Amino acid sequence: MRDNRFVSKTKDPNVISAMFDRVSSGYDRTNSLISLGQVNIWRKRVVAALGPAKREWVLDFAAGTGASTFPLLVKGWHAVALDFSLGMLEQGKKERPAVPFIAGDGANLPFRDGVFSAVTVSFGLRNCQDTIRVLRELLRVTRPGGRLIICEFSRPTNEVWRGVYQASILKLLPKLAALNGAEENSYRYLVDSIADWHDQPNLARVIAEAGWGSVTWQNLAGGAVAIHRAVNLHQTEGPSK
Ligand SMILES: C[S@@+](CC[C@H](N)C(=O)[O-])C[C@H]1O[C@@H](n2cnc3c(N)ncnc32)[C@H](O)[C@@H]1O
Repeated sequence: MRDNRFVSKTKDPNVISAMFDRVSSGYDRTNSLISLGQVNIWRKRVVAALGPAKREWVLDFAAGTGASTFPLLVKGWHAVALDFSLGMLEQGKKERPAVPFIAGDGANLPFRDGVFSAVTVSFGLRNCQDTIRVLRELLRVTRPGGRLIICEFSRPTNEVWRGVYQASILKLLPKLAALNGAEENSYRYLVDSIADWHDQPNLARVIAEAGWGSVTWQNLAGGAVAIHRAVNLHQTEGPSK
């Protein structure tokens, strides 16, 4: 029988952070393997979506081991990596000592209003228990005119590709991860959480509902991944919590 021990429909933060603690040591390697190296291309697209760096501050929320943060630093951003899994942060500190890591929860970010010019989230929002609350917190810490970039799994737009992706590729991921020594159940959670996640227009609606403006998206890998962009159109810092 399938063991659902680690599959948390409610996305309890304790269960989610403990799961990432357990997979942290092989996380980067498994990520490259199960995405067939595509993840590095997606990270470049996030950097491109952010635009030219003018030595501004950017928060990489749910940064894990900092694999999504490092390319921002290389590009010249003052990037800060925040995550609530201490295991992922410790692994990140070993692999990428140049990245400034901060332990924290997206539901209550440990920053003042409006301190960042931009916030990025790569493959993290789907794991949050209260998506709207996190998006509002990200808005609060972003200055007026600042940007949000979210890179996340999404819904392939072409029917044939969607069929192949959902029926075959996604189902293979836990086995592939297990071949790399990863805990199969955690990668079952990955597949389930992707299946339950918003498609492109729905995520755009949720982002707008949280208070962000000018929401757009761009599909990658035929829509299996999408980058959503939005802007803080509020004139003053905030809104307050
Ligand atoms: C799939 S990993 C992505 C890591 C990294 N951004 C990347 O692209 O490799 C998702 C991360 O989200 C973090 N996370 C999920 N919910 C969070 C929350 N509420 N606050 C802080 N981190 C959270 C997890 O601990 C995990 O490290």
